[in-house]
This record gives sequence, C-alpha cells and structure tokens, in this order.
Amino acid sequence: MDPGIDDAVALAIALTEPKFAVKLVTTVAGNVSVDKTTLNALKLVEFFDRLDVPVARGAAQPLKKDFVDASYIHGASGMPGYEFPPVKLKADPRDAITAIYQTLAAAVEPLTIVATGAYTNIAQLLLDHPDIKSKIKQLVLMGGSLSGGNVSSVAEFNVFTDPEAAKIVYESGLPIVMIGLDVTLKALVSWKTLDRLATLGEAGKMLHGLITYYKDEYDGGKPLHDVNTIFYLLHPEAIKTKEYPIYVCTEGPAQGATVADFQDRWSNGKKNAVVGLDIDAAAFNQWLLEKVKQMAV
Ligand code: BDR
Ligand code: CA
Repeated sequence: MDPGIDDAVALAIALTEPKFAVKLVTTVAGNVSVDKTTLNALKLVEFFDRLDVPVARGAAQPLKKDFVDASYIHGASGMPGYEFPPVKLKADPRDAITAIYQTLAAAVEPLTIVATGAYTNIAQLLLDHPDIKSKIKQLVLMGGSLSGGNVSSVAEFNVFTDPEAAKIVYESGLPIVMIGLDVTLKALVSWKTLDRLATLGEAGKMLHGLITYYKDEYDGGKPLHDVNTIFYLLHPEAIKTKEYPIYVCTEGPAQGATVADFQDRWSNGKKNAVVGLDIDAAAFNQWLLEKVKQMAV
C-alpha cells in the first residue's frame, strides 16, 4: 500500500476487523515517496495499537518508469489533516519482498494479498520467488478501469504508476480480483457520511480529518478507492463482477490501461481476472460508518 488517505481508511478497517488476521503491511512508492508511505503505515499501526503487525518498506520506485507521486491529491505527507503523535514504532528490518516471501512461506494455508498501491512489490516477489505462487490464494487489487482513467483518458493511477509490474501480475496466472474505477467511482462517500464520521470517536475524528483534506472530489462526494477492496473481501456479494481477459498496456498513449477482451478478439477466451463492475453505494456508505463506529478508539 501507499498511504495515502484512502489507503489509510482501508488499513484502519483492516486492522480493526475481527474477521481478518492481518499478517503484514508492506509499502511502496505511490501517492508519496516510500519513506513517507512507510511512516504513514507505522502511524496507523501505532494509532490502532496493532504492534503485532509488521510494516516492511517496499520499492522506492517502479520497475522501469520514473516515479511520479500524487501529492496533489494526498498532500505532501500523504496523510495530512490529523496530528499523529511522534511515531515510536520502527519498520521491520526486512525489505518488503523478503517479508512477504517469509510470511507466505510460513503460512499453513494460502493467503490473500490486497494491493492498494502500485504492484511493484508483488511483481518483484513473483520474479524473485516464482515458487511462492502456490501460497497465494488470490490477489485483490485496487486499480485499473474498463471505463476511462483518472491519470489519463484510459489509465488508473496504481496501474499507470508501474505498468510493467501490473503486466507481470496480470500475466502471473494467479487468481486476480480487479477492483478498479468502474466500482470505486460509483461508491462515493457522501458529504453526509463524512460529517457523521467526525462524530465517531477518535478514529472517526482522525479519518474525518484525513478525508477532509483529500482532493479527490466529485459531485456527491469522494471516492475512497482502496476501501472497496476491503468491502469486497467482507461482502463479495455486494459488488457485481464478471470474469474477463485483461491486458495491461505498458507503452504509448494507452500506457497503464487495462483492456478487457469484451469481444473475444485476442484472448481465446482465456480469462485472467474477476472484474468489479458495480456496487451499491448506499450499502457501502452504511458499512463504512458501522466499521468506524466499531473501531472503539
Ligand atoms: C488509487 O490511486 C491512489 O492515489 C489511491 O490511493 C488509490 O489507490 C486510485 O486510482
Ligand atoms: Ca493507494
């Protein structure tokens, strides 16, 4: 992940969700530099008193492309709008790839990986340790779009940030769930929901502070893109999905585009991703409020 304001909300819910056993958080350069995303992840782990969850620093830049951040959306720190106490917790001494590899290798059952930033760490893991695939149950990825982009006409930020990594991941043969803009732009968090958040304890105040700063804004509210991956894991039935063959463009004007073979022109019917297409925005808003209410911080 690359916290990042919507990443922060996703992590807050994941860390406080009794149905999840969060094993590891790894960071990547994305919304801001990896030093900042790592510090922000540590702030959140400490805020929620989940000192048992290691945070390992990941890639400082994409596999091939130059790194361009999104501080114009998430602020210079990546998590403005709330005064966190100085962080005491240290990042795990392992790099993200080693930490993910060891976590998967030690797991009894295959694990789910949720990616809410560029997929650089995952791609590097697959390049360095192809043997570990059998320990990955599924990849739930925020990113991509079948209906227009947010950093170009066709590309979504996480895929665009490191298209080579996205291509490796999409061609890995692993089970992939793509939660892209087709879903996240339909699940705007309404102004009313945002007002309510401020009344829900210190966690609500913290998240309200961050989201208030967040510059990703549309008529009717703000899309908390990354949070949709967590919603999907808990309520898969509330997101309409369809399987598609997805191709990632790495170059040219369509760099970062995720192209679905709607008409079966090039994929010979070989589908590699379950793609989120629609969501019940009212249910998402209600769920978000319930989750923050339960944080009890
Ligand atoms: C994605 O880009 C980032 O800015 C957000 O954190 C999210 O992961 C949305 O396109
Ligand atoms: Ca993100």
